[in-house]
Amino acid sequence: MINYDLIHTILQQVIYPGFSKSIVEFDFVQDLQVSEDEISLILSIPSTSVDLEKQLKEEIAARIRTKTDTTLKITVIKPQVPKETSSNGRNVLPKIQNFVMVSSGKGGVGKSTTTVNLAIALAQQGKRVGLLDADIYGPNIPRMMGIADIQPVFLGKTIKPIPAHNIKVMSIGSLVERGASLIWKGAMVTQAIEQMLEDIDWGELDVLLFDMPPGTGDAQLALAQNLPVTAGVCVTTPQKVALDDTIRSMDMFKNLHIPIAGIVENMSGFICPSTGEEFDIFGKGTTQPLADAYKTTVLGEIPIEPAIREGGDMGQPIMVVAPECETSKRYQKIATELWQYLLKVNEEGGVNNESIQPTIF
Ligand SMILES: Nc1ncnc2c1ncn2[C@@H]1O[C@H](COP(=O)(O)OP(=O)(O)OP(=O)(O)O)[C@@H](O)[C@H]1O
Ligand SMILES: [Mg+2]
Repeated sequence: MINYDLIHTILQQVIYPGFSKSIVEFDFVQDLQVSEDEISLILSIPSTSVDLEKQLKEEIAARIRTKTDTTLKITVIKPQVPKETSSNGRNVLPKIQNFVMVSSGKGGVGKSTTTVNLAIALAQQGKRVGLLDADIYGPNIPRMMGIADIQPVFLGKTIKPIPAHNIKVMSIGSLVERGASLIWKGAMVTQAIEQMLEDIDWGELDVLLFDMPPGTGDAQLALAQNLPVTAGVCVTTPQKVALDDTIRSMDMFKNLHIPIAGIVENMSGFICPSTGEEFDIFGKGTTQPLADAYKTTVLGEIPIEPAIREGGDMGQPIMVVAPECETSKRYQKIATELWQYLLKVNEEGGVNNESIQPTIF
């Protein structure tokens, strides 16, 4: 007959690899539950080694199996990986406190619009903000920020970002000939991103936002390899057809070990300009379950609103022309939540979005 004491005694025999004490003596075993049809335990170890985790799980399972066939669930909790450097151990911009990658699996969902308004909202909250348009294939930020006709200033090899709406802005669109980037291949994209990161003189910033090209390609990878991206924001729309693309985008963040700050649901309902009435056009309810599945949050819902598009076309974003309107308040809320998340990542040294799944023997 198995019981708590028996399993506890077995665990006392499992020595933590490389040490002379057992996992019980080290107090690594948490929440041991033993019932007739299931044994479950959480193992909290001070190592990020996948091999060590595997070795421990297998030894525990083997020892318990000599006594019983009862289902065994082992969940391992490991320390967070520090986020001071990128996946390649690099940080080419040490004077910048936070890097936020705004991405989406699908094109045209409103990444650039969201990034611009979010950047302005953060600046209005007193943060020193930079905005880098890394959309190599379709850079729209210069138009949206009203700086399409302004040429950047070069000081020797370094490029000065262009000030607009209290933000420092630079776009790949300002650096290459119009249309030239459309034919770029993978290696050239990587090179262009790396070059931009090295050559732009941002000075000190609290946060640098990256408006990414759609999808999950070379630009995203190049960024994650050169900078310790503090957080990712995923922009999506509520249509079911956008779901698969959004999942790809979330998986990309996970694979690049970028903590996910949350999802912005853009084009979420339509606010009639004359009546103020809200209509549900693309459906609703697809984003929250997705956020739950990735253990993150919906940072906010932004409606379809003609003033948003007009602001983008005119280079006068809604956050600037109508900071008090309902939609601007929503952007403010998203900015506040994003900032809170960045503080949390900095405090905790990286937030683990990977769901901690038990291994079942
Ligand atoms: N909430 C909104 N209400 C009204 N128009 C919007 C809204 N969000 C975006 N738009 C408009 O939709 C178009 C596409 O938006 P945007 O360029 O921001 O998308 P994107 O995801 O950056 O696209 P791409 O994948 O091409 O980079 C723009 O004309 C923009 O003004
Ligand atoms: Mg865009």
